[in-house]
Amino acid sequence: MLRTLLSTIGLVGLAAAENGLAGWLRYAPIPGAERYRAQLPSHIVALNATATSPVYVAGQELEKGLQGIFGKQCTVHHAHGHWGAAPQVVVGTVDEYTKAYGALADAPELIEDGFWLSTKGQTVQILGQNERGALYGAFEYLSMLAQGNVTEVAYATNPAAPVRWTNEWNNMDGSIERGYAGASIFFANGVVVANMTRAAEYARLLSSIRINAVVINNVNANATLLSTQNIEGIGRVADVMRPYGIQVGISLYFASPTSAVQGQQNLTTFDPLDPSVVTWWTNVTEKIYERVPDMAGYLVKANSEGQPGPITYNRTLAEGANLFAKALQPHGGLVLFRAFVYNPINESVWKNDRANAAVDFFQPLDGEFDDNVVIQIKYGPIDFQVREPASPLFAAIPKSNVAIELQITPEYLGQQCHHVYLPPLWKTVLDFDLRKDNESSLVRDIITGKRFNKKLGGSAGVVNVGTNQTWLGSHLSMSNLYAYGRLAWNPSDDSTVMLQDWTRLTFGLNPSVIDTMVQFSLETWPAYENYSGNLGIQTLTDILYTHFGPNPQSQDNNTWGQWTRADGTQIGMDRTIGNGTGFSGQYPPEIAAMYDNLASTPDNLLLWFHHVNYTTVLKNGATVIQDFYDQHYAGAATAQTFVGMWQSLQGKIDTERFTDQLFRQVFQAGHSIVWRDAIVNFYHNLSGIPDEAKRVGSHPYRIEAESMVLDGYKTYAVQPFEVASNFTAIVTSTNTTVGTATAVLDFPAGVYDLGVNYYDMYGGNSSYCLYLNDKMVGEWVSNSFQYIGSNEAPRILGHQPSIYIDGHSATRVTFGNVTLAKGDMLKIVGTPSGIEPAPLDYVVVLPAGVVD
Ligand code: GCU
Repeated sequence: MLRTLLSTIGLVGLAAAENGLAGWLRYAPIPGAERYRAQLPSHIVALNATATSPVYVAGQELEKGLQGIFGKQCTVHHAHGHWGAAPQVVVGTVDEYTKAYGALADAPELIEDGFWLSTKGQTVQILGQNERGALYGAFEYLSMLAQGNVTEVAYATNPAAPVRWTNEWNNMDGSIERGYAGASIFFANGVVVANMTRAAEYARLLSSIRINAVVINNVNANATLLSTQNIEGIGRVADVMRPYGIQVGISLYFASPTSAVQGQQNLTTFDPLDPSVVTWWTNVTEKIYERVPDMAGYLVKANSEGQPGPITYNRTLAEGANLFAKALQPHGGLVLFRAFVYNPINESVWKNDRANAAVDFFQPLDGEFDDNVVIQIKYGPIDFQVREPASPLFAAIPKSNVAIELQITPEYLGQQCHHVYLPPLWKTVLDFDLRKDNESSLVRDIITGKRFNKKLGGSAGVVNVGTNQTWLGSHLSMSNLYAYGRLAWNPSDDSTVMLQDWTRLTFGLNPSVIDTMVQFSLETWPAYENYSGNLGIQTLTDILYTHFGPNPQSQDNNTWGQWTRADGTQIGMDRTIGNGTGFSGQYPPEIAAMYDNLASTPDNLLLWFHHVNYTTVLKNGATVIQDFYDQHYAGAATAQTFVGMWQSLQGKIDTERFTDQLFRQVFQAGHSIVWRDAIVNFYHNLSGIPDEAKRVGSHPYRIEAESMVLDGYKTYAVQPFEVASNFTAIVTSTNTTVGTATAVLDFPAGVYDLGVNYYDMYGGNSSYCLYLNDKMVGEWVSNSFQYIGSNEAPRILGHQPSIYIDGHSATRVTFGNVTLAKGDMLKIVGTPSGIEPAPLDYVVVLPAGVVD
């Protein structure tokens, strides 16, 4: 056992190729490294000789880092002393250091997991309050060095909060709910996987950003996790994560006692107050702690989205949470109990509002939760939308411990196929002042326990890494995970500074790369908001299917409660106290007054709080509908500029990652136009109000596929109508007929970019050839647009696929710099495959600088 464990740890971090596996822990050589080599330590003293201890791992990590960054070979010792004449690094706990070297002159004030780092004098001191803190300190020192910072520092740092967890929505079969990076690194075929390499590598990454626990399975949990075999599996995961200071937690299925689980008793009830149920959970918890003595605790989703819970038995949510709290208490574990509890509701009742649910359910229970329960609250009252107000629950349960739930996996934000740098969004909530009792009540001060004097609190981030070597599905998405860890440690950290650090660690020290990355990344969230749903209307995606592409009408006329209440004249949720759902009244009075009043509600949340006419004038002077049009055009135009920004990095970063991200930026540029057109067409159609700039429906550079001469193709009315240009596409007349669409071009002679919009459905890989006067311009396969004949490895977009011709499958392929003349014959030959009838929407002939 020990040998396996050690060899796994030894393998971690050796990846040399820029495939993303090393994340921000590349330890790449820095320019001028040789200049510093002599002044760097040659000896590392790691004050613990047990190979599975975080201090031992810190020693290994320091050795690896100094070797990688500076080519400096160090010797690691585990006995104290001063080795050789050269400077040395000492890493360990403050207690061990004091025993070995005597008390520090200025003993730092450290709390659990905190550390002291000093690079002054002959000894670099990296001293943790505990072993985990020492490892954090080693990563901090290496992060400095990897960023070319060899200045003298001496400081202590402590976590803002003890709960710094990730949630991984992994299913037992190996799939991941809302995961966009392949299969689970933890589970396959109902059991914990045998190979722990990726789990250990993940622990290393997380440890370097000071995450201290990982909940390894989906909140929509399965009782079979608790089988004897899987408890052993959880133990194996915990064993490889422990050396990195990471504890393992698990999500529970509330009705587990009534499920058939190997090795556990089967009851006829899961009533949390039934003594047999209490005994059942006590026993199971004991069995888990026998195998995993440091298990972090349980995460519970109850009475939400079909999950069973205490309310099934007319018990309160507090009674449900405390059932687990009592079982965990003797072992030191925590219950993270999710506030994401709501019922299906009927839209025809004006006062119904899903946003009200969390406060309605939890506020009456404040004070009833046991001390080791933490209420885990999504940042907004609905569900990880592109913009939401801070959840009022943060201010409504001052007697309870709370943590904020953020989503690193961008379920509603482009699923790693659109890049969105998320910290600026998170900060709108973390920095929001809820003014509880008319006093400063920043959300970040509430979750850290500072505002209401709580010892427990913190952050939970839904990450959903997968087996893809980039971990999250794209290289840039790792900036979000990195920043999440930094914010969990210090919620006041700055979005730009975190990004600069991440960029240096990930792509090197070239200032122009850093500047470009900052400019680009900071524009991504505003752009995405502008083309996916502005003014607080939420992400207008398909909430009934993939959550990826546009489908505004899917928000309404169902019981999910993510409504827009849009009709021919008005739009938005009336959440006012007097006339609406009363949601604004859930905030403390100063905030309630601000949101309750149209005039004082910020434009970017206007439709969240108010039901208004499309002609209502905003603070920026535009009407609601005109702003909808304007921002959707602006957002898509900005997304086009990302391609150029990324291209400017060519030669400044490695080809592997450059090419991979370029592919994604090109996709995003095309799909942002799908979004733009869908939203403006939908609301133009619904409101009947023209766009002052006359852009909606006007496409002088497009050739609609249905207007081409068709052979083997037929027209197809797309549903929803707004996701096809002119509402119509073409499909081959059968699933085996090769179709041809031709058109005589009527554009002045010149050089253009030729774009083709088609639909890349799941269930077929149609192929297409584009000709100009019978000369081939390009060919591609509708499989996340893989160019045929290119030597590149196929690149796959990891978003949730669609089996329909819709806004999720709508894709653009672009061929740049094509010379053409008036009268040229353009031809597309489409060969269907599987269920995919080589669908085509339009061709766009773009002069330089035109976006359409
Ligand atoms: C969202 C998401 C679900 C998830 C749920 C949750 O609704 O779409 O996949 O299960 O949130 O957070 O529990």
